[in-house]
Amino acid sequence: MKKTRGMAVSLSTSVTLSSGGIARVMGPARIAVRRGKVRILGIELGEGQSVVISRFRSYAVKALSDSQMDIVLGEGGSVEEPEKGEEVIDQWESVVEKVLSRDRVTLVVVGPVDSGKSTFTALVANMALSRGMEPVVIDGDVGQCDLAPPSFVAMARIEKPVLWLRELMGEYFRLVGYITPSVAPYKLLRALVELGREATHLGRVVVVNTDGWVYGYQALELKSEIARALNADYVVVLDEVVGKKLSRMLTPLGIEVITLPRPRVVRERDRDDRRYLRRQNYRRFFDGAKRICVGLDSINIAGSCVFSGEPLSEEELASIAERIGARPIMGSRHDDLVALVVERGAEPSVIPRLREAGGKDVYLIPAKARLRIVSAVLTNGSRNEYPALIDSIDPEKGLCLYTKYGGEVRSVIVGRVRISEEWEEVGKPMKCVI
Ligand SMILES: Nc1ncnc2c1ncn2[C@@H]1O[C@H](COP(=O)(O)OP(=O)(O)OP(=O)(O)O)[C@@H](O)[C@H]1O
Ligand SMILES: [Mg+2]
Repeated sequence: MKKTRGMAVSLSTSVTLSSGGIARVMGPARIAVRRGKVRILGIELGEGQSVVISRFRSYAVKALSDSQMDIVLGEGGSVEEPEKGEEVIDQWESVVEKVLSRDRVTLVVVGPVDSGKSTFTALVANMALSRGMEPVVIDGDVGQCDLAPPSFVAMARIEKPVLWLRELMGEYFRLVGYITPSVAPYKLLRALVELGREATHLGRVVVVNTDGWVYGYQALELKSEIARALNADYVVVLDEVVGKKLSRMLTPLGIEVITLPRPRVVRERDRDDRRYLRRQNYRRFFDGAKRICVGLDSINIAGSCVFSGEPLSEEELASIAERIGARPIMGSRHDDLVALVVERGAEPSVIPRLREAGGKDVYLIPAKARLRIVSAVLTNGSRNEYPALIDSIDPEKGLCLYTKYGGEVRSVIVGRVRISEEWEEVGKPMKCVI
């Protein structure tokens, strides 16, 4: 088989594989099995069955018997025969078989960016599902969680096979508030522990995907702590060097580390692709969401500097007002900062070490401005942290937000990521956004 590439106009091609043969298909592509049987990511496809591969993905297609496939390639798609050693799916599958020989199992998947963590996670889920094992996936990649908007981690039960975790919607969410795991690792750890507790009630196989931050001791220590806190039976590492390091850290603690090679040739995503994918996931949760305003007296607000500090008196507000040239409406004090809601200003900002505020940093939050902070609504029954977008804080209307959560909004947790009308992250994450 030689490499066939899709052009601007889609291209149809027919590919034959003898039993045991592998083809690598880069999306966008549609694969229909005409004869025989193939397997993609643990999903078996027989005669007349088909799958669609996104332009952001590539997969190994393995023939389980002599097979023929009709493949339609879109622009940038391709199908080719992997060189010896490039494809790793056989090794992956045999490790998953071993892991699934237990009755219950929790495993954490670790690896660098683009090493195949999300794909391996889906493979475990698919293979567990075909064995009737009730798999649950926790997507702990806080920057690009497939099940939730960025800055969240989330969990979903797998009830039908998936090629890409994005086909699923999270059932349980936890807000971390940042899209990089290193900023507040304790928040990520807390979030994953809570999801893990829920997951073990819901299924027998728990697979935890993690972010691609594996460079440096701190990164690996965080991965180890996650594995320990979740009581993982195995950590699967898709990189030899990282695997060795993690193994030295985790073996003394009784957690088995399994190192697997990553596929050598994959559909990589550049920065623009990643931005596009993040934007899609913000839209999925917030585009078309209803806007709700709740009076400040009837809502609990957590994760906010203004609402958690010691309230400032009228006199204190007045004395600060003179210096900042804006009228503060409300504000509060912490040991190291003062947070104020002010009447003017288009963007939140910080004045460093303002004397009138006792030499503290002063955070200014403009009332009524479009803040668009990625946040969560705390739902009563299930203790879920459902995605919400805080729109504005308004002394008259209260806290206004967008959410697709259908229940009553009584408590919110404020995140730190702000997004534009175009669903792109704006500014650097601040300590206090409200
Ligand atoms: N066995 C394979 N053969 C060919 N391509 C593969 C294989 N496994 C995964 N891929 C492709 O490799 C790319 C990276 O995989 P994946 O998204 O799972 O990696 P990741 O480690 O989760 O990346 P990220 O750090 O961005 O989350 C994807 O396009 C995926 O479709
Ligand atoms: Mg991933």
